[in-house]
Amino acid sequence: MIRPLEWQGSASDGELRMIDQRLLPAQVSWVSCRRSTQVAARIADMTIRGAPAIGLAAAYGMVLASQEADDAALKGDLRRKFLVVAQAELAATRPTAVNLFWALERCGAALEAGANTGALLEVARQLHEEDVAGNRRIGEDGAKLITAGMGVLTHCNAGALATGGWGTGLSPLFVAHERGVPFHVFVDETRPRLQGARLTAWELDQAGIPHTLICDNMAASLMRAGKIQLCLTGADRIAANGDVANKIGTYGVAVAAKHHGITLAVAAPRSTFDLKIASGAQIPIEERSQDEVTQWGDERICPKGTKAFNPGFDVTPAELVTTLLTDRGVISPVNAAGIALVLKG
Ligand code: MRU
Repeated sequence: MIRPLEWQGSASDGELRMIDQRLLPAQVSWVSCRRSTQVAARIADMTIRGAPAIGLAAAYGMVLASQEADDAALKGDLRRKFLVVAQAELAATRPTAVNLFWALERCGAALEAGANTGALLEVARQLHEEDVAGNRRIGEDGAKLITAGMGVLTHCNAGALATGGWGTGLSPLFVAHERGVPFHVFVDETRPRLQGARLTAWELDQAGIPHTLICDNMAASLMRAGKIQLCLTGADRIAANGDVANKIGTYGVAVAAKHHGITLAVAAPRSTFDLKIASGAQIPIEERSQDEVTQWGDERICPKGTKAFNPGFDVTPAELVTTLLTDRGVISPVNAAGIALVLKG
């Protein structure tokens, strides 16, 4: 199992290491962060990305901030203020995935309760281990949806790279493959940042799972041709009514899947649910640089005067989602009552 981030060393002088996901699949290269501001920069520039992974990175970022406060011998109010600023910088990196704010709230609560750097590292490690264990459970439940000969469509990357380990949307594929079930994955390339082509295809290749890369605009016609029986995605934020924010293009996959009577399973741990918001209309959608759409790498692919629109995520209404695979159990049908029941406690 790939772990995209790890803490190395002691609480007092350790560092956060992470795979630089911008360089995959050409290069597997690790970068180190020794300051919380470096972690914030790495989340913002998408060295690390994926909802649960950025939450965990932020938690380790708070450990680094606490280290810095110790090194500067900050005490009482000065220490508190320093940590509040670090927390705000980490929170300001990406707006859509709620896991980021969830992890920072956990760290904030531990600090309020008097946690020192060692105790804060324990909190971050516990969040990390809970994520890995929860994702495995998602995989075990989700694998039951995968039968021999199936075609499975993925969108974006919801694999180990996007989490603490195993992944959410890809976890069922890893478990089913482990069990010897033969199936084929169609990987949406996921314009504009190509998380499908660069990251999901890489993870499937590493695991030896048969797969075919497709452009996003090919998925609907493959459904019509009977090649896809299951769509599996992750999520960045799920509202109390089951509306799902995930990578831009997920809504199109959901509409096409509904039209063709194909199951759409969305996999996410408790940390991806935002039960404080009633529906997806309240989910903030990150708008990213036009350059990601107007350029292919460094090369401009449209006239200089052409403007682009680049929302990073879209919202799929609950009625288009067949099943939610969570670390607390399976929710189907997807509605507020089912979510409240499975996630309570
Ligand atoms: O912009 P990204 O790459 O951070 O977007 C990631 C996604 O949309 C994933 O599908 C989502 O975070 C689920 S990851 C388990």
